[in-house]
Amino acid sequence: MPPMTQAPAKKRLYIKTYGCQMNVYDSERMADVLAPLGYGLTDTPDGADLVVLNTCHIREKATEKTYSELGRIKELKLAKAAAGGAMTIAVAGCVAQAEGEEIMRRQPAVDFVVGPQSYHQLPELIARTHRALGQRLAADFAAEEKFDALPPERAVTGVTAFLTVQEGCDKFCTFCVVPYTRGAEYSRPVEAILAEAEGLAAKGVRELTLLGQNVNAYAGERGLAGLARQLAKIPGIARIRYTTSHPRDMDDALIAAHGELDALMPFLHLPVQSGSDRVLKAMNRGHAADHYLRLVERIRAARPDMALSGDFIVGFPGETDREFEQTLELVRQVRYAQAFSFKYSARPGTPAAALPGQVSEPVKEERLARLQDLLNEHQSDFNLAQTGRTLPVLFERAGRRPGQVVGRSPYLQPVHIEASERLIGTITPVLITHATRGSLTGQIAQDAMAIA
Ligand code: SAH
Ligand code: SF4
Ligand code: F3S
Repeated sequence: MPPMTQAPAKKRLYIKTYGCQMNVYDSERMADVLAPLGYGLTDTPDGADLVVLNTCHIREKATEKTYSELGRIKELKLAKAAAGGAMTIAVAGCVAQAEGEEIMRRQPAVDFVVGPQSYHQLPELIARTHRALGQRLAADFAAEEKFDALPPERAVTGVTAFLTVQEGCDKFCTFCVVPYTRGAEYSRPVEAILAEAEGLAAKGVRELTLLGQNVNAYAGERGLAGLARQLAKIPGIARIRYTTSHPRDMDDALIAAHGELDALMPFLHLPVQSGSDRVLKAMNRGHAADHYLRLVERIRAARPDMALSGDFIVGFPGETDREFEQTLELVRQVRYAQAFSFKYSARPGTPAAALPGQVSEPVKEERLARLQDLLNEHQSDFNLAQTGRTLPVLFERAGRRPGQVVGRSPYLQPVHIEASERLIGTITPVLITHATRGSLTGQIAQDAMAIA
């Protein structure tokens, strides 16, 4: 007998994600929003029913990627149309927010544009497109409405998950587009976050990375420290991380929590951008280099093994050789476990783009190379110092080579060992035997084998 009902034909959804972890979270949530409409994820845009580019506007290069990718996707849309099919193209994320109108002008193949606080409206935008109501632009700033409208269930499969707790930025660093693309600082209610985290834990998630453009400005009751303490009580949740933090929002309660709460991992991404007070002031960072160094001291007093990570910009308008040297000096004092460094990119509409003394490309290149050499050296040193130590590793997935599993140390270093995939989801002590700048290798520690 034929089945009474047939499962609806799966529509194919392709999402490409650029930019920061908040975009990664948003892409997952977009898939959650679209699943009830019959969309299932596919890993190629070729032949997809819906293509979403979740874009980043932070530097010029990131923005340009959107347009070049759209050129390629348009060809696929034409090919599908020629074969009698249809493809809908949507641009989401920060480029959508910043230059929605321009996207639709430059690339008419785009059906609609949806900003980072509006993607809960995807079903409506798709319906409008299908009813040929023309191109649409959704660029609201109401983060609260979005979170209320998202489905409570998340389709996670891994042992680690991102969880957005805070959005937006009120800091207005003079180089940065984020306050304009993501809107004002907004903190989700504690109850909503706990409910989402419990759902994740029930699906096997063991590590949460709390996300926010200014995550340590989290303004729920008792701040981020209070939130971390509550999350740590959820059965199954063994590790908590958070990113990105602003030095101005690193309060005593959060520093103290690092000394007290085992679940809070000893890794902190704390961007400083520059080591020069004049540059920091021109960037409107709201802190001096010395303030940052003292902050790092206090954090390390609470948690002596804290691994630090940072972001740097070289060639900010007016940056002199001497000022750049001050950045190197700060790096030597902190000794980062890892870091991201960028050439200053003038962003339309930001105050710094109009400053005199824009630094030439060759000078930026040279400074970036010198800074990265130093950062790389420290990263290698940090990893090499782990050899001979036994570290608790949360195993996340099978490795590329057969028989290999990969996890992360408390300091966020990838750790590869030869062992059974049964370790995935466990926290197992690993004796580190070898290190490179990018990762560690080791073997299950002897005492752990005795237990196993
Ligand atoms: N909210 C986070 C991340 C912002 S974007 C924070 O405040 O740290 C991530 C990094 O990109 C920034 O820390 C900065 O180092 C870099 N960045 C931002 N705008 C930039 C620009 N116009 N040019 C070059 N790098 C930039
Ligand atoms: Fe951008 Fe500064 Fe806000 Fe970070 S704190 S998102 S760098 S404006
Ligand atoms: Fe990029 Fe927007 Fe994130 S500009 S870095 S995707 S907040």
